[in-house]
Amino acid sequence: MQRLIAANWKMHGTQTAAAKLAATVVAGLQPLPPGVSVVLCPAFTALERVGVSLAGTGIGLGAQNVFWEDEGAFTGEVSPLMLSAIGCTHVIVGHSERRALCGETDAVVARKLLACWRHGLFPVLCVGETTEERAAGTTEARLRAQLTAALGTARCAKPLAVAYEPVWAIGGGRAATPADCAAGLGVIRAVLRDRWEDGAARVPCLYGGSVNPANCRSFWEQGTADGALVGGASLDPTAFAAICRQASQEGEAWSR
Ligand code: PGA
Repeated sequence: MQRLIAANWKMHGTQTAAAKLAATVVAGLQPLPPGVSVVLCPAFTALERVGVSLAGTGIGLGAQNVFWEDEGAFTGEVSPLMLSAIGCTHVIVGHSERRALCGETDAVVARKLLACWRHGLFPVLCVGETTEERAAGTTEARLRAQLTAALGTARCAKPLAVAYEPVWAIGGGRAATPADCAAGLGVIRAVLRDRWEDGAARVPCLYGGSVNPANCRSFWEQGTADGALVGGASLDPTAFAAICRQASQEGEAWSR
């Protein structure tokens, strides 16, 4: 399995700034390090311009959200059809900021996954517990509930990555420990295995939350992550390239 490093630029950058950042990332990652897939997820308004910068580079283009219908009276929403037409290959689904700030429920997340699969988009599904859930000892239950609800009745193997993003670790510079990461990913892989025979082997399971060039290695080497969803550090092209290079599996025995 290739490692996957996805950049979540969140609500940063005009189309001009995003295109410039994408061009710098591309320049810093040519040639692409072996054994790692890289995806940039800018804001909707910058998708087209960033897509132009990424053409022919091997770096994928992702959106940060999607609506579940293809078209209709859904003011302000962007459909999977539109994303695929603009060249998106990936979509972040169920990010905790959308769950907390925009009221996105597990049921909504499930519909969005189905929409991605209908249009050949590769979803990066985010799950993770809040500070309160962690303190209450309900992390495992929360992860199981989020993942099970999101997968809905999907029985056959689907293209998917799951990012374990503890809400308390996002944005604040306080990353989870590799042991926390391994525990969360263990729960996620157990659910995937129950669902699909080869689920845990086929679905990249990422870690996200304050990943930076100094700590990233610990998440794959000790935390068993198959890559990372990177927020803040992905806005710094030097830091992001350093993370991607450290995810490269050249010369590593990679067996799972
Ligand atoms: P962070 O964000 O790397 O800034 O913590 C990660 C995310 O929200 O996906």
